[in-house]
Amino acid sequence: MSSFGTVLLTGAAGKIGLRLRQYLRPRIRLRSTDILSLDPPQDGEETMCCDLSDPVAARSVIAGVDAIVHMAGIPREASIEQIASANLIATYNVFAAAHAAGVKRIVFGSTNHVVGFYPVEQSVDASALPRPDTLYGASKVFGEAVARLFWDKHGVESVCIRIGSALDKPTNLRQISTWVSYRDLAELVWRSLVTPRVGATIAYGVSAGSRGWWNNSAAGHLGFIAKDNADTFATEITEQLGGEAHGPAVAFQGGPWAADGYDAT
Ligand SMILES: NC(=O)c1ccc[n+]([C@@H]2O[C@H](COP(=O)([O-])OP(=O)(O)OC[C@H]3O[C@@H](n4cnc5c(N)ncnc54)[C@H](O)[C@@H]3O)[C@@H](O)[C@H]2O)c1
Repeated sequence: MSSFGTVLLTGAAGKIGLRLRQYLRPRIRLRSTDILSLDPPQDGEETMCCDLSDPVAARSVIAGVDAIVHMAGIPREASIEQIASANLIATYNVFAAAHAAGVKRIVFGSTNHVVGFYPVEQSVDASALPRPDTLYGASKVFGEAVARLFWDKHGVESVCIRIGSALDKPTNLRQISTWVSYRDLAELVWRSLVTPRVGATIAYGVSAGSRGWWNNSAAGHLGFIAKDNADTFATEITEQLGGEAHGPAVAFQGGPWAADGYDAT
């Protein structure tokens, strides 16, 4: 999209949402929303409280916006009931309401956990079949499928960002491969909004580094170049989370997420 009026940011009270709010606010007119209450709006911003699992509320918060950055959801493993409401139904509601309102682009906060059961030795790109490591990861596969459906059937463009580990800095060996700085993630979201044509793009949200697992060539048209590099921290980090040296937490890209409840033999 070369220009737009108002962008809706969902999940604006969350860890990533708070940073995106700061990054996007000076650049565009922003409508920030969350099921939780938000800090008072700043210049160029309006805030609305909304449970996106309610389709009527989703339609109301989406009315009048030109693009959506959809970060709301449960960002970890949870019960099927919680995942179904926050990640399946809410995400469908966002796409359906966007289509009904004529919104032409959605940036969707997906996750690396859609490919968490690939071995760490394997480089994975956007065309790899999903291998989710959790019910949470499976719910983001659903979100990516909904994004593709709304592009193929209705022409609603999307960029699904498979976010790595969004943190101030990596703190264990796995995160040397998965880390994304907040400023790199914000820049990728921005590129996802302003690139003229994106179709249905899948991008990996990851900073630079020689130990990364993900090939982002299918998202090259976004023109995203990471400014931060996980290698900066590599010498000070020598341990996996939990100190494990073998087993599924080390063998699979999803790390502890893949290992949790793992009993395949
Ligand atoms: N933080 C990471 O490293 C990471 C990694 C991969 C993917 N992601 C994805 O990025 C997004 C943001 O992650 P985060 O770490 O900021 O999570 P977060 O939990 O801090 O923020 C998510 C926000 O969504 C809101 N929300 C949940 N259900 C809602 C509903 N029904 N209606 C409206 N709002 C609702 C929550 O109140 C919360 O403020 C999530 O979709 C997550 O799956 C995050």
